[in-house]
Amino acid sequence: MKTLLLGILFVFTAFVLKAQEGHELWLRSSQKTVPVKIICSKNTPTLAIARQELQQGWQGEPNATVTLSITKNKKIKTDGFRLTQHEVEATTDRGILYGVYELLRRQQTGEGIQDEICNPSYAIRMLNHWDNLNGTVERGYAGMSIFWRKDDPFVVTEQDKTRWQEYARANASIGINGSSINNVNASPTVLTPEYLNRTKAIAAVLRPYGVKTYLSVNFSSPKVIGGLPTSDPLDPAVIKWWKDKVDEIYTLIPDFGGFLVKANSEGQPGPQDFGRTHADGANMLADALTPYGGIVMWRAFVYSSNDKDRAKQAYTEFVPLDGQFRDNVIIQVKNGPIDFQPREPFSPLFGAMKKTPVMTEFQVTQEYLGHSTHLAFLSTMWEECLQSDTYQEGPGSTVARCTDGSLYPQKYTAIAGVSNIGLDTNWCGHHFAQANWYAYGRLAWNNNLRSEQIADEWIRQTFPPASPSTTGSSLYAADWRENFLVPVKRMMLESREAVVNYMTPLGLHHIMSANGHYGPGPWWAPEKMRADWTPPYYHQAGTNGVGFDRTKKGSDAVDQYREPLAAQFNDPATCPDMFLLWFHHLPWDYKMKSGRTLWEEICAHYDKGILQVRQFQKTWDKVQPYVDSSRFVAIQRKLRTQCSDALVWKDACLLYFQQFSQMPIPYYLERPV
Ligand code: GCU
Repeated sequence: MKTLLLGILFVFTAFVLKAQEGHELWLRSSQKTVPVKIICSKNTPTLAIARQELQQGWQGEPNATVTLSITKNKKIKTDGFRLTQHEVEATTDRGILYGVYELLRRQQTGEGIQDEICNPSYAIRMLNHWDNLNGTVERGYAGMSIFWRKDDPFVVTEQDKTRWQEYARANASIGINGSSINNVNASPTVLTPEYLNRTKAIAAVLRPYGVKTYLSVNFSSPKVIGGLPTSDPLDPAVIKWWKDKVDEIYTLIPDFGGFLVKANSEGQPGPQDFGRTHADGANMLADALTPYGGIVMWRAFVYSSNDKDRAKQAYTEFVPLDGQFRDNVIIQVKNGPIDFQPREPFSPLFGAMKKTPVMTEFQVTQEYLGHSTHLAFLSTMWEECLQSDTYQEGPGSTVARCTDGSLYPQKYTAIAGVSNIGLDTNWCGHHFAQANWYAYGRLAWNNNLRSEQIADEWIRQTFPPASPSTTGSSLYAADWRENFLVPVKRMMLESREAVVNYMTPLGLHHIMSANGHYGPGPWWAPEKMRADWTPPYYHQAGTNGVGFDRTKKGSDAVDQYREPLAAQFNDPATCPDMFLLWFHHLPWDYKMKSGRTLWEEICAHYDKGILQVRQFQKTWDKVQPYVDSSRFVAIQRKLRTQCSDALVWKDACLLYFQQFSQMPIPYYLERPV
């Protein structure tokens, strides 16, 4: 009996441990840690965490002495730090914490440490959670919300606190210092006392990790929960309502970050409902927050059904308002002009608003890139955007520089990522989706980092070799590098392009199936549906060709880009292939630079996408000896689904487009492009 019970216990423990696999993210505890002595003259909750992290994670010289010092070194910006092998110097305790995480990361990845100063590219590095108060997550593919739930919504359990703490720690380890914790399609209810109290409890757990709490607010709140007859931003009673609400919030949460606002966008209320502008609305909220140092992140995700080209509207609405916003308003702009597609050119708003701070919004959750089923390392996509040259202040005016304060004077600089986190044990649904959370944080800290380095760091921390040393010269390490690190990194770096190939190659966009945005749906166009919500609006396929004409003869969206880009995009001969059908409607037999017809080129890209995923499967099968079985099998299964999905995408799209092209589908599978 006893043996049986012990047996059951053993199996249960093994099961639990297996289920936990992946929960530690890139912060896996290591057997290689050794004792360390720490000197630090101050003590705060944040510094206590820094000490604890060093004690738990030190892999340097045994019994070394590490000094943590808070100084007034002017070269170190807020949150920044100076690092040597045995010292972290910063001007704030948050800076010390970030320095400690960097020091430990360098030890684990084997990257050397010189005497160096690391300052963040953006002062505010946000995660935006699209979590609803009933616990569901909009576009969330990793389970329910970690912040809200339907049953017992106001009870804060120990389990809640542990999870928030683990979440905050992961964020701090990559430099994320702000979380907006509810959906941008915001319920006014979040501003009622019970929800504000829960927000206070969340903020208390995030605070020592340097993560500030923000809320998304609904512009109609004064009317809906305040009982006022209007929410007009110029109405004195409305202004007073917001001021009082802000006072109430700061009484509960003295370091509250501010508001994120989606207004007059996709049916959400906003100042235009009262004949006011975005600036009127944003400034009213900003004024209420000013006494406390809070900020407003006002989203520019606007489009309407009567616009001939949705891609143009944000620029058209916002550029004329440049200079009219308070200095604590930041305009939050999605990376591309449509909506988080696998590939878009950068939004022309970057660099176009010269007197208003603009921040980039990336989507970490993979709404249009295979949810948490497809492996897509998004770092390459974000790098592509950040490094895009807007030419707004001459060559070299990259999106990164247009938003980080190096080209335009800005009181605040910021960046946001729409989170992919939920209650799933591994946080993100797909083990490789954790790499996107990681990559977003690293790029928010340093917008000049390269994806190759980010992938390398992430793999070394998330899948470390089971024995001696990742970095040492032992045979094992060399073997691990060659047979695990290199091929897995290659797979990650190629993965987003593979998705582009099998979903939306050559500038095609928004041809996903309705609502879910997972599978293909280029045909989807119910009779009474708004045209701009249906794929045919975007691909414009017909017997005369395919693609959206945004040239000067078409919607003229090209004109929103600064020369030489406008001219380059306007001419199919100079437009990069990757944006061809974004800017042009071209005949099926159009001759491509490769010598193929456009039709053949489209076919070749869909085909290449499949080949790439098949290669990922082969790569993954071969690395089995280097990965725990739980993660190995989970990833193998996901890749299998990804491969069959890629085939569906190819078959569906090519069969659909073929009715217009009337051309045969070439057999490519053995002739990759
Ligand atoms: C997309 C997404 C919506 C989301 C919106 C936004 O359209 O599908 O779910 O609300 O973006 O960013 O506001």
